[in-house]
Amino acid sequence: MSIQQERRTPDSENHSDSNSKTIDWPKVTKPPTVGIIGGGQLAQMLYQSAISLGIEAHLFASPTDEAAPKYFRDITRASSESWTPPEIYHFAQKCDAVTFDHELVSPNIVRELEKRGCLMLPTASTLELSANKANQRQRLTQLGYSLPPYQICNTLSEITSFGARYGWPIVIKPSTGGYDGRGVYMVDGETDAASIFNSLSSHLPFVVEPKLQLDAEGSVLAVRSTTGECLTYPMVKTLQVEGMCREVTSPGDFPQEIAAEARRVAGKLAEELEVIGILAVEFFVIDGKLMVNELAPRPHNSGHITIEANVTSQFENHLRAVLGLPLGSTDLRVPAAAMVNLISNSNSQNLLPLLPAALSVKGASLHLYSKSSRKNRKIGHVTVTAGSVEEALEAAHQTVDHLSGLEILEG
Ligand SMILES: Nc1ncnc2c1ncn2[C@@H]1O[C@H](COP(=O)(O)OP(=O)(O)O)[C@@H](O)[C@H]1O
Ligand SMILES: [Mg+2]
Repeated sequence: MSIQQERRTPDSENHSDSNSKTIDWPKVTKPPTVGIIGGGQLAQMLYQSAISLGIEAHLFASPTDEAAPKYFRDITRASSESWTPPEIYHFAQKCDAVTFDHELVSPNIVRELEKRGCLMLPTASTLELSANKANQRQRLTQLGYSLPPYQICNTLSEITSFGARYGWPIVIKPSTGGYDGRGVYMVDGETDAASIFNSLSSHLPFVVEPKLQLDAEGSVLAVRSTTGECLTYPMVKTLQVEGMCREVTSPGDFPQEIAAEARRVAGKLAEELEVIGILAVEFFVIDGKLMVNELAPRPHNSGHITIEANVTSQFENHLRAVLGLPLGSTDLRVPAAAMVNLISNSNSQNLLPLLPAALSVKGASLHLYSKSSRKNRKIGHVTVTAGSVEEALEAAHQTVDHLSGLEILEG
């Protein structure tokens, strides 16, 4: 077993309970259908992999979803933003397996679909963890993982005592409703804490943490199949600005022991939590030590780079895992790569005239999400592979600068 692959063999005692409903490949006569709930860029990129594998894909999209519905042939559009169980059941029963573009899906609805015999991957119990930051932290603590110091707070006085104990500023994360840093509040003192508490009380409890001096952030993707096979990808380095991922570099420049430990932790988490599909594990690195920041049981922004940089992309491996197919190699296939997100800097950004300049950058691969421009919205990403991370990063930024009309948003 090489450190690159960390392949874990199928283990019949360690499967999720969904295993009984998996696809029986030797008996399959027509392509299975994967359902994808949510019509954003992850659905778009999953669909690209489904095409390569010859798999049918059926999309369940909200009325306002923009990216993926442009491309799917089979789409169920919810009648409103708050999906009704009959609509989603009607969709799910037409699919051999259902997976997700995002985790903002009620675990109760997913559990109901499981009871009705639909194969939902990740399962409702995995979604319960990812959809609630407080539950997630508590479960990770029970399992003994190394985490940032935190307290689950239900009252303002608990928050202000935490601030007094650790010193301000502190970080408040409501247990539900946040993503891309929208749900991470840096709080300077008691007045600030009171206003956050009052305006977000419907998202209690809060995870409260000291504001840490991070040396670096990184991420490891684990992928686990319905067969029990589990692999991890090499650790990448991520750069966040105001809570939102801006760039990813691979391989991350972490000491070898840190990168190996991060892969070990991610693989162990995927197995202990019995996740099926991709599990993204975000890490903080402080003083040479790893802390698990959070988990996302789906393809992840830090894994977009795998499309060009690794033998098998996170999207293809997610589908292979959900369908019970052998997983593809997670090894890097280039010396280095960088991914930079394209973040909209206006409400009406016309990218088309900027394409020729952007695509003239050597080695640049562009992924646009067909989303309308809105300030601070991720509307695409660029990946460059090269001989070194520095070279790849410079070219990726150059491409994004062209697409941004040189008005890059920084901080
Ligand atoms: N306690 C903390 N101290 C310093 N920075 C933090 C802390 N918590 C979060 N951050 C920063 O905010 C980013 C987003 O926080 P995270 O908890 O991952 O929420 P989200 O669900 O929005 O990704 C992190 O990647 C990190 O850059
Ligand atoms: Mg995060």
